[in-house]
Amino acid sequence: MRALYPALADGHAYLDGAAGTQVPLPVIEAIAAAYRAGIGNLGGAFAASARSGAIVAAARAAVADLTGGTAEGVVFGPSATALAYRIAEALSRAWTAGDDIVVSRLDHDSNVRPWIQAAGRAGVTVKWAEVDLVTGELPAGQYADLVGPRTRLVAVTAASNAIGTRPDVPAIARIARDAGALCYVDGVHATPHVPVDVRALGADFYTTSAYKWSGPHLAAAVAEPWLLETVWPDKLAPSSNAVPWRFERGTLPFADLAGLTAAVDHLASLGSLSAQSAVRTSGRSVPGASPASRRERVLASMAVVEAYESALFARLLGGLAELDRVTLYGKAARRAPTAFFSVAGHSPRAVAEHLAARGVNAWDGDNYAYELCTALGLEPDGAVRAGLVHYNDAAEVDRLLAGLAELAG
Ligand SMILES: Cc1ncc(COP(=O)(O)O)c(C=O)c1O
Repeated sequence: MRALYPALADGHAYLDGAAGTQVPLPVIEAIAAAYRAGIGNLGGAFAASARSGAIVAAARAAVADLTGGTAEGVVFGPSATALAYRIAEALSRAWTAGDDIVVSRLDHDSNVRPWIQAAGRAGVTVKWAEVDLVTGELPAGQYADLVGPRTRLVAVTAASNAIGTRPDVPAIARIARDAGALCYVDGVHATPHVPVDVRALGADFYTTSAYKWSGPHLAAAVAEPWLLETVWPDKLAPSSNAVPWRFERGTLPFADLAGLTAAVDHLASLGSLSAQSAVRTSGRSVPGASPASRRERVLASMAVVEAYESALFARLLGGLAELDRVTLYGKAARRAPTAFFSVAGHSPRAVAEHLAARGVNAWDGDNYAYELCTALGLEPDGAVRAGLVHYNDAAEVDRLLAGLAELAG
């Protein structure tokens, strides 16, 4: 599977997947093929225009299969941040003074600031769900006190892009729903690591960015079409009033959308790649026919990804625990495989530079987990982040640990 990623051939350990993954050949080829075949803008009388229409429809179906949502409720945008601003702007038109919203101290700022700024304009109170700074947990129980009859929206992440914490979103969403509030879930960090089912999560809106799961730089917000029907964003007069089109501003990036579909197909193939490799290693066949639909293959593959990444993450956590001068932030019971840590006596940038010189790509900074880093006293420099994805391996984790041991052993 690593051979499918040309960028990995440069020999660097790409442990910066949480900031964006590398792209496999089928994605690169799908983008090139779209341009090679000729694409036109939507609504034309000629074949190249029809090809773009088919690309958009296929991409909506792909995101629906990835998330368990409905294809007609998939809205595309340039980034999760842009989509949050777009949806906050539209939803907040219905808010009135005396209403409130709940945001969390765990979230990436893209699921915090757009809501706070919209609340400020509407005269709406902002309430905060707090992180337990020792464990890194975002206790779901606090939402029973925070959410009330005037709560219009609860914004929460499905996984922290800094410390990995995966809060109990279904419990939080249930509290929101019982009070008649919408739940806006940031799925950007969770989607590459676990099987996702937006209905099981209770998410009214779920955002995901394709560049975090081997796709191109664009994002999607997933909602039920009937919910989108109730919301009117600002839009141009001649553009479509239909859902989901009316949420999409201007011309979509058709070739990148072809790449996005290829990325979902790539994820869906990981389970069978893993089964083939098990057959090669053990010589035994794997029982059970491959699941039929792409949705089933995505779920099976992401379960394999989750198990593989947890084992690799355990190796990383075990190694970090042996380094006396390393402080790891967060130890939540359910975590994405993302480690956020400081090395005593060295700035996060100096650690990242030391690692880069040894061929290890690790991030330094607050990763826009601004509220969390402020609460942890880590602003403005943040800490170091090593984020594992499915194409990382034990040798890369060991290289990171060896590099850190030179500083912190
Ligand atoms: C958890 C999380 N939410 C939101 C974002 C923002 O995504 P985008 O770059 O698509 O706006 C990121 C990006 O790092 C993220 O990790």
